[in-house]
Amino acid sequence: MSRAPLRVAVLGAGTVGREVVRAFLERPRSLRTSDGAPLELAGVAVRDLAKAAAGGMPAELLSDGPAHLVADPKIDVVVELMGGGEPARTLIAAALAAGKDVVTANKHVIAHHGEALEAAARASGAQLRFEAAVGGGIPVLGPLALDLAANRVEAIRGIVNGTTNFILTAMAERGLAYAEVLAAAQAAGYAEADPTGDVEGADAVNKLVILARLAFGVWLEPGEVSVSTARTDGSAGLSGITGVTGADVAAAKEAGFVLKLIASAARVAGDDRGAQVAAAVRTTAVPGESPLGRTNGVLNRIEIDAEPVGRVAFSGPGAGGGATASAVLGDLLAVARDLGSTWAGRPPAIRGTVVAPPVEPAFAGPSGARYPILEAAS
Ligand code: NAP
Ligand code: HSE
Repeated sequence: MSRAPLRVAVLGAGTVGREVVRAFLERPRSLRTSDGAPLELAGVAVRDLAKAAAGGMPAELLSDGPAHLVADPKIDVVVELMGGGEPARTLIAAALAAGKDVVTANKHVIAHHGEALEAAARASGAQLRFEAAVGGGIPVLGPLALDLAANRVEAIRGIVNGTTNFILTAMAERGLAYAEVLAAAQAAGYAEADPTGDVEGADAVNKLVILARLAFGVWLEPGEVSVSTARTDGSAGLSGITGVTGADVAAAKEAGFVLKLIASAARVAGDDRGAQVAAAVRTTAVPGESPLGRTNGVLNRIEIDAEPVGRVAFSGPGAGGGATASAVLGDLLAVARDLGSTWAGRPPAIRGTVVAPPVEPAFAGPSGARYPILEAAS
């Protein structure tokens, strides 16, 4: 029996949204499944209508009223790709409350409001999917929720921000200055509209909170996850990669390390419910010849230690329009097939608490920063 088409509104046609819209226009066959509803693009919301039309977005579908699209009874599915906190959160919540399925790449909103949005989706029966919020084009939340569902996850760690990895790689391999490389990451569409969250670590924290939801069944408070690098004199360190100097990068290389922004979360021993998680996002000295050490440029890599599977790793492009649109479109096809929310059959999450990870041996850079050393076995 053929199913009625699902009418899709895409909110935002920037780096990611425009690639999603292009798939509808240029590759409609890739959006068909044998057992799901057909998907029909019915509206695209932007702020600047003229700019979007000049950039190839279909003028007849453009609107500068995302709330009107969400409220339109003809819209079945909302794809939120505007970014930021508001109005994105309100629009997602309104869509879910109205029983409309939502696909989003917005890690900020999911990390900060995931508990309430999960409750709203469960209450209305709408599907809420956010694979693109972690690791760009890398499938990792789906495998965590589905393929690894019979495991007990002990720990997760990885490189989850493409912008900072792109910057650190260019500093290490080409001796470029921090500011020069940040501009290139922005031009490539990797950085957030406000890149402060990338370089200070907040974006990686958001992704770690979302990973912890799938891995440990808890929602963590993003503000409880430390992003600062300790200093040899005991003073407060700078956030994320903002304190990393060219001299630190060169000295680390000399000692066989590369500096990487590593997000880590581990189940605290003895806490069977996983309610306590040792989590942090820190610039870390990683052995240069390890898989994480060799993860360069915009690539991300996420390693998961679980029982009984052991260690599994996911790597690939962590940012960029095409890669991220791949994850968004995969979620849209899952919605069309009624596969449910990203947490799949997992029970509702509980609220978790963050504790600081144990103190590890550190590499002291010339700037006075103490970079924790990642165990060589990784
Ligand atoms: P972007 O390039 O800044 O695009 C944002 C789009 O949303 C623009 O079309 C903008 O319209 C529109 N918009 C913003 N606020 C709006 C409002 N109030 N009303 C109507 N339209 C509005 O952002 P992006 O890089 O595509 O990122 C989108 C989302 O994906 C974010 O949540 C981001 O964190 C996430 N994400 C991005 C990447 C990546 O590599 N870029 C990867 C993974 C996840 P105007 O252009 O007219 O202002
Ligand atoms: N700004 C983000 C990054 C986009 O650089 O990783 C992908 O989430």
